[in-house]
Amino acid sequence: MAYNLLKGKKGIIFGALNEMSIAWKVAEKCLEEGAQIVLTNTPLSIRMGKVEAFAEKNHIPLIPADATNVEDLNHLLKESMRHFGGKIDFILHSVAMSLNVRKKRSYDDLDYDFLQKTLDISAISFHKVLQCAKKLDAINEWGSVVALSYVAAQRTMYEYNDMADAKAMLESIARSFGYIYGREKKIRINTISQSPTMTTAGSGIKGFDSLVDFADRMSPLGNATAEECAGYCICLFSDLTRKITMQNLYHDGGFSSMGMSYRAMHQYNKSFDTEKD
Ligand SMILES: NC(=O)c1ccc[n+]([C@@H]2O[C@H](COP(=O)([O-])OP(=O)(O)OC[C@H]3O[C@@H](n4cnc5c(N)ncnc54)[C@H](O)[C@@H]3O)[C@@H](O)[C@H]2O)c1
Repeated sequence: MAYNLLKGKKGIIFGALNEMSIAWKVAEKCLEEGAQIVLTNTPLSIRMGKVEAFAEKNHIPLIPADATNVEDLNHLLKESMRHFGGKIDFILHSVAMSLNVRKKRSYDDLDYDFLQKTLDISAISFHKVLQCAKKLDAINEWGSVVALSYVAAQRTMYEYNDMADAKAMLESIARSFGYIYGREKKIRINTISQSPTMTTAGSGIKGFDSLVDFADRMSPLGNATAEECAGYCICLFSDLTRKITMQNLYHDGGFSSMGMSYRAMHQYNKSFDTEKD
């Protein structure tokens, strides 16, 4: 059901790769809710993924940009403002990548060049987007910027590797920049800490299926889906959340407040039954 929550609003969506991407679901919901959007991704992801077809089908501009490249970001922001005929109201940062995860380097054997890339792509790029936007005065007052995070920023998660450090940094950038952008321009900046979700980035993590199953058993409401995450993003882009800023907002079915659940305990006990067999 659509509520027209974003009628008249204009936004940029980073990170839609294919129909599993959280950003893809956000883009779909933005359109349903009456927003105008610009999509962006790296040239490689545009070639490898399906976003070009999505953009064509919905008559949306797709502007290639590497989120770590300030020149690309300035071009993206200027072109978006030219397309909209004015400033932007919201931005989704849905960007992450770790070569240490991809190449299966464990956390006590990190490649430091890869680590720099992880931090640049998955966290510092968020600062770059915000800094470029502020310098260009690209976002309207009461605009909203959201980045996607994960609970590994607070709790150690097996195999999440250097992405945990990137997410901790991402959340810190939301607070530090949120103070300045809020004080000077009334712009709000938040991170959503999402349940593990079956996407291309997610499934790169070793044992991801088990992590999804465990989180689901631990969460009283079950894991939050990508579609549900999109709903939360829309809410944060809308005028209904104008005084929420500098927050890391859990969207995880209750997982982050749990210690042990009946469903997880039940499954854990089953392993002992099997051992007896
Ligand atoms: N899937 C999960 O379990 C989960 C859980 C919590 C948070 N998140 C976060 O959600 C966000 C989106 O990930 P997803 O799960 O939808 O996976 P995804 O693979 O669909 O999206 C990741 C996107 O990052 C883009 N990207 C990578 N390097 C880039 C760069 N240099 N410049 C611009 N874009 C770049 C990719 O092209 C891709 O579109 C990420 O920040 C991820 O960490 C995912």
